[in-house]
Amino acid sequence: MFKSATARTVPRALASRAFARTLAESSTFRPPFIPLVADSGFPGAIGNTPLIKIQGLSKETGANIYGKAEFMNPGGSVKDRAALFIIQDAERKGLIKPGGTIVEGTAGNTGIGLAHVCRARGYKCVIYMPDTQSQGKINHLRFLGAEVHPVPAVAFDNPMNYNHQAKRHAESLENAVWTNQFDNIANRQAHIETTGPEIWAQLNGEVDGFTCATGTGGSLAGTARYLKNISDGKVQAYLADPPGSVLYSYITSGGKLTERSGSSITEGIGQGRITDNLRPDIDILDGALQISDEKTINMVYRLLDEEGLFLGASSCLNVVAAYELAQKLGPGKNVVTLLCDGADRYVDRLFSRKWLQSKNLDILPEHLQKYIALP
Ligand SMILES: Cc1ncc(COP(=O)(O)O)c(C=O)c1O
Repeated sequence: MFKSATARTVPRALASRAFARTLAESSTFRPPFIPLVADSGFPGAIGNTPLIKIQGLSKETGANIYGKAEFMNPGGSVKDRAALFIIQDAERKGLIKPGGTIVEGTAGNTGIGLAHVCRARGYKCVIYMPDTQSQGKINHLRFLGAEVHPVPAVAFDNPMNYNHQAKRHAESLENAVWTNQFDNIANRQAHIETTGPEIWAQLNGEVDGFTCATGTGGSLAGTARYLKNISDGKVQAYLADPPGSVLYSYITSGGKLTERSGSSITEGIGQGRITDNLRPDIDILDGALQISDEKTINMVYRLLDEEGLFLGASSCLNVVAAYELAQKLGPGKNVVTLLCDGADRYVDRLFSRKWLQSKNLDILPEHLQKYIALP
């Protein structure tokens, strides 16, 4: 008959002492914040991500710098939250019925989030994206069952821009919705109802600062709005912006919208206009931080080396911004940002020496050089 490992190998007295210790430890056990059962399937597993304290940067500043581990969402990014809320909103408004089609123009994480939720809810998913995007991204969406249309990369004012094509595609079908992530405020609502409250609960209301970058603006606007409201304006909320976005100068100039100039290696963030998601909340922001690609790339490797965190560039830009905000707010303060997705989706670029050289970003200190694993 099978005997347990304890009975076979550990003398009885020793085993019972170990058992007593296990029981004593379990009396201090605190229930986990994360629900263990996602009864509604994939959608129920979205959100409730941990807050990870960034040890090295916290020590350096004397503040507590936390990154919300959005890369742990089941579709791998912060955009799972928006994808779910946008689809639920369309269902509630009767815009889509069982068997319908979700159409979006996106090159990135929103498409992945939508494709997952579509499979879980029984919808078809159609994605338009510029044909300049990597084959890896196109493949990823196709693996998830999405119909992908790579189309010529033309400016927004051209009717053949991928967003307009997505809209027309949805209009040409029965029972289809163009989800329009940039101006669909169900996106922002996801962060008002989930990201913001989670951060507030996780830190017992002791939040002093929040910062993150914007693509659609949903994450920054929704989270900042919730944290400002619940704290009576006490939480300092800052935009983190890459070069090539107009928002930093818009905020720091008191509302002047300039022509877009410059560019950044970050993906999924940086904006040329004030989206409907950002508009209601842009005036509640306390300031903006512009983060160079050099600082972002350095942080990609530093977080890997010091913290074991393998993160995409937008997350690392966010962490640089959180570090700068922590320096502004001072020791003892709690500053939070978002770790939007992992580095896996960008390894061909971020970890290639040739690519770094092509962007004049082969700038890492000697001790971090060993992580550049690709030629
Ligand atoms: C990697 C990454 N980071 C940040 C963002 C920005 O999030 P939001 O659209 O909520 O502004 C996105 C958006 O697609 C993204 O893909």
